[in-house]
Amino acid sequence: MSELQNLPIGVFDSGLGGLTVVRAIRELLPGENIIYLGDSARVPYGTRSRSTVVSYARNCAQFLVSKRLKMLVVACNTASAVALPTLREEIGMPVLGVIAAGARAVARTGVLRVGVIGTVGTVQSGTYIREISARVPNCQVVQEAAPLFVPLAEEGWIDGEVPVLAATRYLEPLAKAKIDVLMLGCTHYPLLISPIRTALEKLGCGAEVVDSATAMADEVKRTLKENDLQRGFQNPGELTCYVTDLPDSFQEVSTRFLGQSPGAVKKVDIR
Ligand code: DGL
Repeated sequence: MSELQNLPIGVFDSGLGGLTVVRAIRELLPGENIIYLGDSARVPYGTRSRSTVVSYARNCAQFLVSKRLKMLVVACNTASAVALPTLREEIGMPVLGVIAAGARAVARTGVLRVGVIGTVGTVQSGTYIREISARVPNCQVVQEAAPLFVPLAEEGWIDGEVPVLAATRYLEPLAKAKIDVLMLGCTHYPLLISPIRTALEKLGCGAEVVDSATAMADEVKRTLKENDLQRGFQNPGELTCYVTDLPDSFQEVSTRFLGQSPGAVKKVDIR
């Protein structure tokens, strides 16, 4: 194995959400080393201006690149929507974003009425509409911002009446639009899959729920192969986690979510 193949994949998000992508990558590519950064000091990204998100995303990318990587995965829809071109221009390695992967997952279902929920930034960028329409030209895409889901996920408040009530409010217009697929256009949202399903049921909406994590992992695999960067499976890859604030609460919620401890979570300053 070459030194390059042995290098880790860098993954970042504003907080915990990107772990949904990490989990999918680890399931598909268990031999890969992963370094994860959650910018928990500055979560949420989704309510901030485009230029602020670009600058946060550059900080995250620079920190991860300083650890030596072979690939960067932007496991944040908000950052993927606005910062991918900048990161690709500045970083000399494959840089993958979650929105194209999500749009591919939607296209695979073959349906023509899609609901997308995401952060305010992702919804306003219109990136999902463009990426889905490019793959399924006749598709009708209805969007709804669901900003409260991010703090609920970060708090670990992922069950019970409060998230179900929030989900019901957010999903009502999409159920009225008779969507066939609901795209979770924020990597935090799969943590709330249970209240989301309960709300859809309450609303009488039988939409299939998709997220970008599995499609993203497929794309990571394909890109590693194309660039001859696969580590293969000699022994299980390592996961190293960094956050910019509150490592203990990250560890607690992420252990519940990953089903195993993410190991020691280190706090770093990336500004
Ligand atoms: N999980 C991120 C996303 O996919 C960011 C959520 C946020 O920080 O607002 O957009």
